[in-house]
Amino acid sequence: LLQAFIFDLDGVITESAEYHYLAWKALAEELGITFDRAFNEELKGVSRMESLEKILVLGGRQDEFTPEQKASLAAKKNDHYGTLIQQITPADILPGIAPLLAEIRSRNLKLGLASVSRNAFTVMASLGLKDEFDVIVDAAEIKRGKPDPEIFLTAAQLLGVEPSACIGVEDAVVGVEAIKGAGMFAVGIGSEETLAKADLVYAHTGLLSYAEIVEKFDQA
Ligand code: G6P
Ligand code: MG
Repeated sequence: LLQAFIFDLDGVITESAEYHYLAWKALAEELGITFDRAFNEELKGVSRMESLEKILVLGGRQDEFTPEQKASLAAKKNDHYGTLIQQITPADILPGIAPLLAEIRSRNLKLGLASVSRNAFTVMASLGLKDEFDVIVDAAEIKRGKPDPEIFLTAAQLLGVEPSACIGVEDAVVGVEAIKGAGMFAVGIGSEETLAKADLVYAHTGLLSYAEIVEKFDQA
């Protein structure tokens, strides 16, 4: 029996995934490394330092920096990202999300957030959603990032529900893998091809249907 929904943040609840992309792209260009949106799919859901590492590997520059230099590169990206997210207001909640959250609430189901972003609390506060969720699990509370299921399992545990009673919502390939690894039903936001491991995929949040999700969950 369905008891909870656990959401990813960036690219699901709000378009902050775009700000991550823009901030990484600016840093990469300073380093003479160019990347496109296809490569960016590999960064979605991936922690800050791992993302930097992937970008340096892409540019063949992974051996050129000391750990301290890498830390300052990551800090530079985060400063830029921090400036970009200052514009976030409740108007930036993506289409379809507010009605879905209301529907979940009206059924007395639990709500969890599973984001590896260290900016998750700030973004949730700016969206006016921080107090709407029963639990927010971020990078500080986990040892292993997505695709490891740890973050979704931790959220379920804190909500006091079994993983099999949860639906996870994600836009990242590694995020969908984490949800499936946790033994949950996975709803993907994005392309069906990219998120092939999800149980149900919507091209964008505006198409999310509570009734359809629950129907598919019950059939699974
Ligand atoms: C989320 C985003 C990633 C981001 C990661 C770390 O998973 O999808 O793009 O790199 O969080 O975010 P942070 O705000 O801690 O740098
Ligand atoms: Mg995401």
